Amino acid sequence: MCGIFGEVSLSGDCLKRTINGIGSLEHRGYDSMGVVYKTKEKTNIAKIISPDQSKSANDLYGEISNIEDFCPVALGHTRWATCGKISLNNTHPHKGEKSYLAHNGNIINVSKLKKLLGSEKFVSETDSEVVVKLIDKYYSKSGDLINSIEKVLSLATGANSFVLFNQDFPDKLFCASKGGPLLLGKTKDSVIVASDPAAFLSRDVKRENLYKIEHIVAVSHNSWEIIEKKRASEIVDPFLDNGKGDYPHYMLKEIFEQPQTIKNALNGRTELDRGNAHLGGLHDIARDLRKVETFHFVGCGTAYNACLYGAALFNRFGIDARAWIASEFIYNHPYIKPNDAFIFVSQSGETADTIEVIKEIKMKGNICLGVVNVPDSRIATMTDAGVYIQSGIEKGVASTKAFLGMISVILLYAVFLARQRKMTIDTGIGILKMARELPKMIALILEQEDKIKKMAKKILRFDNMYFMGRSMNYIIAEEGGLKLKEITYKHAESYPLGEMKHGPLALISPDFCSVVIAPNDSVYAESLVGIKEILCRNGKVFIITSDDYDFDLPLDNIRIPALPQKYEFMYPFLTVIPLQLISYYIAVELGLNPDKPRNLAKSVTVN
Ligand code: F6R
Repeated sequence: MCGIFGEVSLSGDCLKRTINGIGSLEHRGYDSMGVVYKTKEKTNIAKIISPDQSKSANDLYGEISNIEDFCPVALGHTRWATCGKISLNNTHPHKGEKSYLAHNGNIINVSKLKKLLGSEKFVSETDSEVVVKLIDKYYSKSGDLINSIEKVLSLATGANSFVLFNQDFPDKLFCASKGGPLLLGKTKDSVIVASDPAAFLSRDVKRENLYKIEHIVAVSHNSWEIIEKKRASEIVDPFLDNGKGDYPHYMLKEIFEQPQTIKNALNGRTELDRGNAHLGGLHDIARDLRKVETFHFVGCGTAYNACLYGAALFNRFGIDARAWIASEFIYNHPYIKPNDAFIFVSQSGETADTIEVIKEIKMKGNICLGVVNVPDSRIATMTDAGVYIQSGIEKGVASTKAFLGMISVILLYAVFLARQRKMTIDTGIGILKMARELPKMIALILEQEDKIKKMAKKILRFDNMYFMGRSMNYIIAEEGGLKLKEITYKHAESYPLGEMKHGPLALISPDFCSVVIAPNDSVYAESLVGIKEILCRNGKVFIITSDDYDFDLPLDNIRIPALPQKYEFMYPFLTVIPLQLISYYIAVELGLNPDKPRNLAKSVTVN
C-alpha cells in the first residue's frame, strides 16, 4: 500500500518527473498525495487530499508556484490511509527537524518509538512522522545520518520501507527497506527510487539497471551506495504497459485483455504430445511433489477465490486439497502433515496476510509454492518454487485478468500433479486442448459487451442482491459478488444456490435480485430448481448460462459458449467474464471510477 517515488538528477527536472512518478503509482493508494522538492533557494513541500477520489497527482501542480525552478531532488508519495484519517496533516512526506520522509508500511510498535521522543509534539497521527522525528533526533546528537536511519530501522517492527531527504544532503536521497517493496532504477541522467515497478514503465530504465533495496541505500544523481548489502542485486521485470489505450479505464482494458492473459499463462507450458503441463518452475522439486498428500491453497480476496477454484479442481482430479483465507489461517490451528505442500496465490506477491502464512509454514518445513504475477515480489522470492501467471501489470484495483491468470496456472498445476498420479495421457491431452480453446471463447463473450451492459443497467436499480451458483460456479458467484461490492458499493452476498432454502430465500422479494450462474453442466437441473424457487416468490433473476440450453423461463440472460460436460470444470474461465463487465458497467452508470474504488488499494502490505 502507498506509493513512493523519488528522483535525483542534474537535469533539474525532478519535480515534474516525481509528480508523474507518483501518478503512475496511484493504484497503491490515492487518498492523498504530496511532494517535497529542492530548488536553489529552499526546500519546498506541496500536498493535496482526495477523500472522494476526485484528485490525482497532477492536481499537485495547482499547489506549486515555482514549477519551472531547477530541481535536482524530489520525493513524492501517494497514500492509502492506514495510520490516521485522510487529511493534509497526515499526508506524506512528513517532516522532522531537517529530514522529510515518505513511508510505506505499518510500524507495529509505534507507541514504543513515540516514548523515545519524550515530550515531542506531532503534527500528524501517523507512525511515519514518529520515524522521521526519531531519525532526526539521533542525527542531531550523533551527526551520522546513516547510523540514525539504521538505528530507527532496527527499532521499528513490521514490514516497512521509506525514502528520506535531509537538507544537509541537498543532492541525495536515503532509502531504507525492512521487508517493504522498494526498487532503484538508473536512467540515462538520473536515479529513481520507487515502491513498484509500474513507476519505471514510461522511463528509460533497463532491466540490468534495477536493484531491489534490502536494507539502506544512499542515492545520488548517477549512482547509489548500498550501505549493507544483504543480497546480490536482483533483476525485476517491470512488464510492458501501454497505458489505457482507447479504454476509459484500466479495468475495462484488463477485462478485454483476458484472451491474451490465458495465452500468456499457457504459452510454452502445454506439452500436447505428452498430455502434460511443462512447468519449469516446478522442475527441481517435482520428485518431492509426487509425495505430497494434501495441497493447501492460501490467498486473500480474489486470490482466495482462485484458491477455492484450485482446491475444487485438485479434488476433482483426485488430489486432496483445500483452500484457506490467509488472514484466518493461524486462528484455525490447522493440522499440517509432514508431506503437505502449500500453494500461495497472489497477484502483487506483497500481500502481508499471505506472507505471514508463508513464514509459519517455512518454520514447519513444508514445501511452499507460488502462483504469483509480479516477478521478484516477496512471495515469489520467499516460496521454494512456483509458476508466474504472466498476466502483465494489472493496474485496476479490482483484480480481473490476474484472476484468470491465476486459475489458468492452477489448471496447469492440476494437470501436472494429476499426471504424476493417476491421470492418463489422453485425459491430459484433452484438457490441454480444451484449455487452448478458451481464449477464443472469451473473445466471443466479450463481443456481447452491449448486451451485458444492458443487463448491468437493469441490475442497477437493485441495491441488494445475491450471486449464486452450484459446484464450481459458486466460486464464480463469490468472485462476482466481491467485484460488485468493490467498485459499485452495492450490497451483494454470494451463496451456493442449494443453500437458498436454508434461510437466504427469506429475503427474496420484487426489490431483491439474484444473479445466477447456471451453464448447462452436470448440476444444471438442480440449478433450475433453485431458480424456480426464487421466481415463484416474485424475485428477479438474471442468469449467466451456456448457449446450448433452451429454457422456457422468461429470464434476462447472457449466453456463454457451451463446454462438453467432461470439461465443465473450465466454465469458471467463461462465467466470470460477464460478471466482471456487469460490475464495471454498474460502477460507470453510477458515475464511479472503477479504477479507484474508495477505501481500497492494490497491494495490501499491512496485516
Ligand atoms: C479484489 C482484489 C483483492 C486482492 C487481494 C489479494 O479485486 O484485488 O481482493 O485479490 O487483496 O491481493 P494479491 O492477489 O495481490 O495477493
